[in-house]
Amino acid sequence: MSAVSLDRFREIFGQGKEPVSISVPGRVNLIGEHTDYNDGFVLPAAVNRYIHVTGRARMDRCVAVHSIAFGEQHQFCLENEISPLLSGWKYFAEGVIRTVLTGADKQVGMDLLVDNDLPVGGGLSSSAAFAAGLGMITAGLNRIELQPLEFAGLLQKAEHKYVGVECGIMDQLSILLSRRGSASLIDCRSLQIDHIPIPADWSLVIMDTGVRHNLAFSEYSDRRLQCARAVELYRQSGKELTSLRDVSAGDLDRLEKIAGSNSVFFHRCRHVVSENLRVTEAVQALRTSDEKQIGQLFRESHRSLGNDFEVTCHELDRMVEAAWHAPGCIAARMTGGGFGGCTVNFVKKDTTEQFIKATLSGYSKKTGRTGTAIQVSSISGIMSCEGRLQ
Ligand code: GLA
Repeated sequence: MSAVSLDRFREIFGQGKEPVSISVPGRVNLIGEHTDYNDGFVLPAAVNRYIHVTGRARMDRCVAVHSIAFGEQHQFCLENEISPLLSGWKYFAEGVIRTVLTGADKQVGMDLLVDNDLPVGGGLSSSAAFAAGLGMITAGLNRIELQPLEFAGLLQKAEHKYVGVECGIMDQLSILLSRRGSASLIDCRSLQIDHIPIPADWSLVIMDTGVRHNLAFSEYSDRRLQCARAVELYRQSGKELTSLRDVSAGDLDRLEKIAGSNSVFFHRCRHVVSENLRVTEAVQALRTSDEKQIGQLFRESHRSLGNDFEVTCHELDRMVEAAWHAPGCIAARMTGGGFGGCTVNFVKKDTTEQFIKATLSGYSKKTGRTGTAIQVSSISGIMSCEGRLQ
């Protein structure tokens, strides 16, 4: 339990019964971007930056959620309906809590504190970690048993409904089921997870551009619709498929013929098909510690996300280019949904400091902005065998 969170909890909610607490990691996606909602492959790792949730049952049936990041508190009573006037983090928090409590025999009120050392909205899954933390504590205090796959699905649905983003399942599975020292190869169709060790002499560095473009939500929904439209076009051409996962590289020219090589649908599809292949190749590169290969795959992924999927931005491109030229760089690309946020980098361990310095300075020269760097380790998810519920 984070000692700081515990002290803040007592300051805000007063002394009383010892609260319970959970620290939910963020995740960084190594490769496999915008493939999860196309039933494809992803390769994320949970990292040691957290959303901490501390909570205690109350005597009445009301809930207070205090967010340190937002400097606000939200209160509601369980016997009332959720207010349609709510929005933002408060709507999401209440939505998650009510979703977890659905069907529970006895619903107790709670005081909850949310604290974090995970950059908010930076593509490191702060929103899934926020929901997972609230969900786990709510379940714990109400004696509700959660199964990892069901819980992941429930969190995903809550995000669709209360945030309004039709995210895939990568973030939830990663923060629940990742394993220390590894990346999780997730087949987003079967939900099978294989744990792939990360070479011990590569350090994992996240560089934050400091930029958050607010078109990210609407652009994300557009990409989903465009991928769905590409599937429809394939169907009209007589190919049987349920998602872009079923398109092979050899099938790509069929769509090019129907839609034209300048078509947005063709470009989106080409990204998804090539990115799925890159995930499989990246797994091989991790297994053989092949620096050259992983570097090449990250570079191709970033370019494909820029040219074909169009989700990078000026700042992400400059940060990645600065990294590619920095000493010790093994691999660098944008990570997460795009339109700002962070990049993910593998760096030779003994050159990490020089890498960070050179990348931040290159980024600042090209953009006039100040980025930040966090060196992270891959850790276990909260429902893996080495979970962290205390
Ligand atoms: C966001 C979503 C994920 C995934 C990524 C892009 O992080 O929450 O489900 O689609 O974007 O890979």
